[in-house]
Amino acid sequence: MKYEEMVPAHIRALASYVPGKPLRQAEEETGIKCTKMASNENPFGPSPRAIEAMEHALREVHLYPENGAPELAKKIAENEGVTPDHVLVTGGSTPCLDMIGRTLLSPGLNAVTSERTFIVYPIVTRGAGATLKMVPTKDDGFDLDGILTAIDERTRVAFLANPNNPTGTMFDAKAMDRFLERVPDSVVTVLDEAYYDFAKHLAQQRGVEYSNSVRYVKEGRKVIVLRTFSKTHGLAGVRVGFGIGDPELMSYLARVRTAFQTTSIGEAAAMAALHDDEHLKRTVENNAAGAEVLLKGLREMGLHVVPTWANFVFFEVEDDAPGIARALERAGVIVRPLGGWGIPKGLRVTIGNPEQNQNFLRALQKVLAKEPVR
Ligand SMILES: Cc1ncc(COP(=O)(O)O)c(C=O)c1O
Repeated sequence: MKYEEMVPAHIRALASYVPGKPLRQAEEETGIKCTKMASNENPFGPSPRAIEAMEHALREVHLYPENGAPELAKKIAENEGVTPDHVLVTGGSTPCLDMIGRTLLSPGLNAVTSERTFIVYPIVTRGAGATLKMVPTKDDGFDLDGILTAIDERTRVAFLANPNNPTGTMFDAKAMDRFLERVPDSVVTVLDEAYYDFAKHLAQQRGVEYSNSVRYVKEGRKVIVLRTFSKTHGLAGVRVGFGIGDPELMSYLARVRTAFQTTSIGEAAAMAALHDDEHLKRTVENNAAGAEVLLKGLREMGLHVVPTWANFVFFEVEDDAPGIARALERAGVIVRPLGGWGIPKGLRVTIGNPEQNQNFLRALQKVLAKEPVR
């Protein structure tokens, strides 16, 4: 039998996830030192405390980790004011999305989200054999009323990224309150807060109320909050994330989690990073300052730029974005062209440290003016 006949049609139809270009590959291709501003990673690296904890944990990697990282789940629960059975620790938040898909979705059911949002939602929905309804964006972000309208009796999941990746938009706590008042009881709302600390800081600065997410869980609403250690904590490479939701629902999710999904190194790093307020503060403050610099610089180039609530900036160019991304790479800056999101003129750049931000702006200016970059 041919593999084509063995693999179900809904799996064959999947497009695989295309990540930002790896640093090493870009450096090999260009022959110069590059800065990766393509995957929303922390420009300061991991917390020094996390590095120390990982070095320590290295000595015990001959032992299996504790399944489900219970110590970390307990610590997160304490911080969030819930009991540990509300917390499910996973290998980054992406596997948690996959587990949500496999637990709640199946052929004949659907999930609803926005267009121009996190590229993993279609993969986990279609991978479960369900269909994904994507509602057009409003002002470059989630149209929550449109999502409510798209929900039908076969909808089981609404994926809401707040802030949204790749456009960087945010909806505030009031908008979410209104959404939850109207969403049917047959739908689980997944509130994906991968950029939580960045958004919280920016919202405080801008006098906006960001999110009541965990409060919804405490109130017994059908909400799963997703967070990750990949962004502000700088631990993308060791894969730790978590979901917070109703204990019964989380226990169903846990049944589809592969055993030993998180590593002892990841758990040690995350535990240490949770205690490193200094690294977190430095990260979010640098990000807020960098956001202003990039937004201003891009606007001055006459580009369509969307104000960001995360650690990246979305902008659109008039020419072909992949060509501009390639030219930027020749100048040593890797950004993310957004063709895969159906945005042919869109680019996303991660906010770096002050020097990286200036290098990027200088390089883009040259590229747009069609001047040689080096
Ligand atoms: C909206 C959103 N959710 C989830 C993730 C997943 O992050 P991780 O799997 O590294 O926790 C990302 C990462 O880019 C994201 O942008």
